[in-house]
Amino acid sequence: MRDATPQTIYLSDYQPFGFLVDEVALTFDLDPHKTRVKSRIAFRRNPAAKDAEFFLHGEQLKLISAQIDGKPVAPEVTDRGLTCAVPDAPFIWEAEVEIDPKGNTALEGLYMSGGMYCTQCEAEGFRKITYYPDRPDVMSIFTVTINGPHPVLLSNGNPVAQGQNHAEWHDPWPKPAYLFALVAGDLVAHSDRFTTMSGREVDLNLYVRPGDEGKCAFGMEALTASMKWDEEVYGREYDLDIFNIVAVDDFNMGAMENKGLNIFNSAAVLASPETSTDDNFERIEAIIAHEYFHNWTGNRITCRDWFQLCLKEGLTVYRDSQFTSDMRSPAVKRIGDVIDLRGRQFAEDQGPLAHPVRPESFQEINNFYTATVYEKGAEVIGMLKTLVGDDAYAKALDLYFERHDGDAATIEDWLKVFEDTTGRDLTQFKRWYSQAGTPRLAVTEAWDAGKGIFTLTFTQYTPPSAATPNPEPQVLPITVGLIGADGAHVAPSRVLEMTEAEQSFTFDGLDARPVASVLRGFSAPVVLAHDLSKEERLLLLAHDSDPFNRWEAGRTLARQSLLATITEGSAPDAEWLAALQAVLGDETLEPAYRALMLGLPSHADLANTLYDTGKTPDPAAIHEAVEATRDAMAQAFVSTLSELYDRHIVDVPYQPNAAQSGKRALTNAALALLTRVQGPEHAQAQYDQADNMTQQLSALAALLRAGHGDKALAEFEEQWRDDRLVMDKWFGLQVSQAAPEKAAEVAQTLTQHADFNWKNPNRFRAVFGSLAMHHAGFHHESGKGYALLADWLIKLDPVNPQTTARMCSAFQTWRRYDAARQEMIQTQLDRILASPDLSRDTSEMLSRIRG
Ligand code: PHE
Ligand code: ZN
Repeated sequence: MRDATPQTIYLSDYQPFGFLVDEVALTFDLDPHKTRVKSRIAFRRNPAAKDAEFFLHGEQLKLISAQIDGKPVAPEVTDRGLTCAVPDAPFIWEAEVEIDPKGNTALEGLYMSGGMYCTQCEAEGFRKITYYPDRPDVMSIFTVTINGPHPVLLSNGNPVAQGQNHAEWHDPWPKPAYLFALVAGDLVAHSDRFTTMSGREVDLNLYVRPGDEGKCAFGMEALTASMKWDEEVYGREYDLDIFNIVAVDDFNMGAMENKGLNIFNSAAVLASPETSTDDNFERIEAIIAHEYFHNWTGNRITCRDWFQLCLKEGLTVYRDSQFTSDMRSPAVKRIGDVIDLRGRQFAEDQGPLAHPVRPESFQEINNFYTATVYEKGAEVIGMLKTLVGDDAYAKALDLYFERHDGDAATIEDWLKVFEDTTGRDLTQFKRWYSQAGTPRLAVTEAWDAGKGIFTLTFTQYTPPSAATPNPEPQVLPITVGLIGADGAHVAPSRVLEMTEAEQSFTFDGLDARPVASVLRGFSAPVVLAHDLSKEERLLLLAHDSDPFNRWEAGRTLARQSLLATITEGSAPDAEWLAALQAVLGDETLEPAYRALMLGLPSHADLANTLYDTGKTPDPAAIHEAVEATRDAMAQAFVSTLSELYDRHIVDVPYQPNAAQSGKRALTNAALALLTRVQGPEHAQAQYDQADNMTQQLSALAALLRAGHGDKALAEFEEQWRDDRLVMDKWFGLQVSQAAPEKAAEVAQTLTQHADFNWKNPNRFRAVFGSLAMHHAGFHHESGKGYALLADWLIKLDPVNPQTTARMCSAFQTWRRYDAARQEMIQTQLDRILASPDLSRDTSEMLSRIRG
């Protein structure tokens, strides 16, 4: 498997393919170990290309026969593909290959999951199905014939013929091979219809394994809501007669936007009140929207090459976040997104895996489906919209769809539509796509009482990284509002556009020195250093009209209190606690927002802050400080929390909507704290009465943390042993709620459970993703967490390189820690690297992490 010399691919080497593909016809004769794939492909020379070598990608294929214009040919075959002498004139390539779907545990190409056939072709999986120019700029029209003894046989586009054990599909829209999909199996459909804005009828089907029919309704509603939203907000109409979604249990990622046939990890689509939490519902709604939105941003307009991945992913994440804001609460969505960005993307951007939103080189593209490409890519679009304004954004998007429909486009094309719409020069803005690293933004204030002028002076600095050794100043939209001592606004929000390394902005006509609310709505993905006094932060926490910055003021006070506890052993800050209590009791604020206010910075966030200020984080000390702070919160707020619990407990039938789930978020945050002071009875009562998973799981978590979870845990297993998705929660929760010194041991014991199917990515992640996220457990001084994860990564790599490589990121922050921990981690990294035949995916990740 391992390449003798791992090859690095560079953006600057891009060349168009030497041939164009007019049409592709594929015929599949399905068989678990010996599927035959016949291809018939019409090629002609590409007048725009100078490179004329006829190279077709192909991996793990058994070539049975090949013909050009009906005459047998003998191509030169390697383990990466084939070359062949071809005529100058247009010609027909025909080949037959044999593949082994059942033996395909990597879950890339054609594979089997729970008795059904399915495919995953992004990024480079199609080459495991047949010989083909497997690159996104080669677009063609596909006709697919499927033969096999299965009631349901699906592919992209519209159905043209359906018979006994036979189906034909035709996709009229040219597409790259990564959007190809095929599904076959004994599946049942949950169906609906949608009438598009121009009055076309579309059949909608959500296909699931028998038994899962009861978990389809919510996904279908999310789909129709997404279709409607994309028409109303972006003017985008669906373009086929049918839209199919299939749920599969074994899937490396969340879901995939194959044209007209989206394939979903069952965890990302199946939902019912009894089996799914409110967070699951919200995530499913967002992923359904995301994949659907790709139909325009990804499929109709695709990427020229994989370096442009953010062209479709950044934009589609941005679009799905707008959708969620419209469906639910914009403030709650924004805060959640920023927590996620700081947790995952900032860690990436500030460590050895840092890369630009548009990377310039890679060895294995699967390793670049990252928080930087997706989430920072979406932030960049949000900044662009802030800079040009909503109207110009809408015009630019219209122009993008008009100009590039049917194209395989680039970031240059994307920025050009904004330049042409607005007349702006986006040369400097483009650095957001080419520079790695999180900018540090520092702000100082000056007040001229005589003139009534308030000045904010900003400096920006991006630490150099291997990916970007000499960062230059970026364009930062900084949204600022000014607040008076009484908490009222003295100047409405204004967007400052910073372009220099250092730049000042003035506000005049003021009667008194204001308090500045800087970076409202988190208007740029930077680390902000703003030396506000505690009184000023308390004022913002009590009064800022920007909900993000109001939350941020509380979070900063919480972080400062925690850091003082960690480094000086001081008690939690009483003034912060008092101010927080006032916010909690403010019934004008949404419950979901108040639930967020009860959250604390993560252990990893605190570790990073310590590291940033030149201190070595001690995971055990961080854990103790967080526990002490939670205990203090529980004691200080006990009566408020009881009141909140009683006032907001939902006693009407379960609905996964924002209003109800916000109340549950608040009452369950209250329950977690109350359990600390009142013991487990309350949580046990909620557990016993729960009729939905949100209430059941929250109660179970509180019981486990209190050390009283054994009975409920056994009951839970008994109740849910046949539900794979619920059992993933059962596995994960035991690890995440374990005491630090127990976490690795709990994980290890779970790997011996009869239902620990480690080849299933969801189950593997339930245990080891939870371990990696358990900061004090994973980084326990015994080093057991590191060793256990390494053992299992070594075991998984030959089976599923993609999931193994993604999980390696658990080690990306290793340089933050003390010498002893670094040494233990390095030993494990080297042990994994030394395993024979390590995949290209994992070896690239580990060598980048190890440095
Ligand atoms: N393109 C998918 C999405 O973002 C993600 C994905 C990538 C899925 C690669 C599978 C493999 O929607
Ligand atoms: Zn996507």
